[in-house]
Amino acid sequence: MMLRRSSVCILVILVAYRSVLVSGGGTVGVAYGTLGNNLPPPAQVVQLMQASGIKNAMVYDTNPEVMEAFMGSGVRLSVQVVNGELQTLASDPDIAQQWVQTRILPFASTIDYISVGNEVLTTERDKSSFLYPAMINIHSALATFDIDNAVKVSTTHAANVLDASNSFPPSNGQFNVSVLQYMVPILGFLSSTGAPFMANVYPFLAYISANGDIKLPYALLDSVGAPEYYVADAGSGLVYTNLFDAQIDTLVFALEKVGFGTLPLMVTETGWPSAGGLEATTVVNAQKYNNNVVAHVLGGGGTPKRPAVPLQVFIFALFNENQKTGPDYEQHFGLFYPDQSRVYNLALRSN
Ligand SMILES: *[C@@H]1O[C@H](CO)[C@@H](O)[C@H](O)[C@H]1NC(C)=O
Repeated sequence: MMLRRSSVCILVILVAYRSVLVSGGGTVGVAYGTLGNNLPPPAQVVQLMQASGIKNAMVYDTNPEVMEAFMGSGVRLSVQVVNGELQTLASDPDIAQQWVQTRILPFASTIDYISVGNEVLTTERDKSSFLYPAMINIHSALATFDIDNAVKVSTTHAANVLDASNSFPPSNGQFNVSVLQYMVPILGFLSSTGAPFMANVYPFLAYISANGDIKLPYALLDSVGAPEYYVADAGSGLVYTNLFDAQIDTLVFALEKVGFGTLPLMVTETGWPSAGGLEATTVVNAQKYNNNVVAHVLGGGGTPKRPAVPLQVFIFALFNENQKTGPDYEQHFGLFYPDQSRVYNLALRSN
């Protein structure tokens, strides 16, 4: 979760993966970040999720105490390989096998996805060359235990894997040339294993760096039915009612340009902070944004580029985290305060 150092760009991503299995809608999960010194113990967190109707959770490591708490809870888990482990996992298939055996196998019945690293190609560029071999080694180890079909391997990207000079309109989307050499083999791997492209998509970041060029209702998905806010993409002929869709489609167009236009997409993080000192960081805006995203996803539609493909999204984050670094707003993305009271209500209907 080093995210959001990102900045600028307009971004993207999303989901399609289980379009056939999830009739009637996409899926919404919540990211369970733990960079706080006052958060409840994992067993209480799982109960909070169950009571709130949360059925999918993303965690940022493979802490056995946390994964144990999810076992039998009915809440599906996605987990991450921390960036610091990539080099050793890339270097030796036996180490990867041992890692899978101890970290994943005991909890495999509750795990759907492993993100190998988080935003590596943009925030930990010196580790870029470890990413693909680590993914390969982990996938091979999963296959050894015959769980490679149940547990999918991918890696999470920040929005700025895109070329910042060509991120608007969406049809101009293309990957930054400096990440391409690493990205292309990874896309081939995802394609051949049936795993989704994972991206963190933050209209909030684009909005606060746009100096007024982006209208707030468009960024908050509050512009549906208000054509004065719509943005037409002359390159594709598509019309965007909101920035979230536009950011996702920018990624889809970038994937298409390198030959992977049908790869499923998953939004591994999106959200809006409820405080943090900026005009845009209010409870009202955070509540609007997240509720609008949830309604959009559960409504079952996709984006203009992939209208029939339901979205798969994780809201960042479950809690306000008081040990997150960076701008003040980083500590205020939560749906809940550490004492488990709600920052605002989020209507997570069953999906
Ligand atoms: C591409 O990525 C490099 C390295 O992060 C960055 O310096 C450069 O500005 C990016 N170029 C564009 C056009 O986004």
